[in-house]
Amino acid sequence: MPDIEITIPTVLTSDSEEDTLLIGTRVGQRLQRGDIVALFGDLGSGKTRFVQGICNGLAVDEPVVSPTFTIVNQYSGRNGDHRNLTIHHIDCYRLKTTDDVVDIGVDEIVSSDDISLIEWPQLVLPLIRGFYWKITIDPGDLENQRIIKIEQKAAGEHDGPRY
Ligand SMILES: Nc1ncnc2c1ncn2[C@@H]1O[C@H](COP(=O)(O)OP(=O)(O)OP(=O)(O)O)[C@@H](O)[C@H]1O
Ligand SMILES: [Mg+2]
Repeated sequence: MPDIEITIPTVLTSDSEEDTLLIGTRVGQRLQRGDIVALFGDLGSGKTRFVQGICNGLAVDEPVVSPTFTIVNQYSGRNGDHRNLTIHHIDCYRLKTTDDVVDIGVDEIVSSDDISLIEWPQLVLPLIRGFYWKITIDPGDLENQRIIKIEQKAAGEHDGPRY
């Protein structure tokens, strides 16, 4: 894929995991202190790959691994202004209720100045104030193809056709 500049909203076709990493990187370079990224998509759609791209765009220099079992992983990064940032990568797949989400401190994380990157974010959406980045990854026609939609939504503006 040629290099990309992201306009929002946009829909991009990724033909490989490298494409998804690049798109994620370009989004990561746009993130500001306090931003929340909610990633929608089925199991194995590429949410964690996209997060690895975002972390690359935020100059995280440690390996970014799926928080499936830990639920929250934390990294240090910095944005284009060379400001240090704390990044929380959260996977809510195994959580059942909004109380579970609050118990592990996700409400505090999304209210903070840190960056929140959230897989399976449905239970977290009611806790979000302000706006969030909504990333939706759908399968394409080919095995390694993904259709990636990038939007910014106001809190409360949660009703899409599928979620
Ligand atoms: N275009 C693509 N973009 C991203 N991943 C791809 C693509 N094509 C194939 N893949 C593969 O799909 C898988 C995506 O895995 P990943 O862990 O990112 O999914 P996930 O959405 O985080 O899943 P989970 O819901 O289980 O956390 C990887 O094995 C990756 O190699
Ligand atoms: Mg994942």
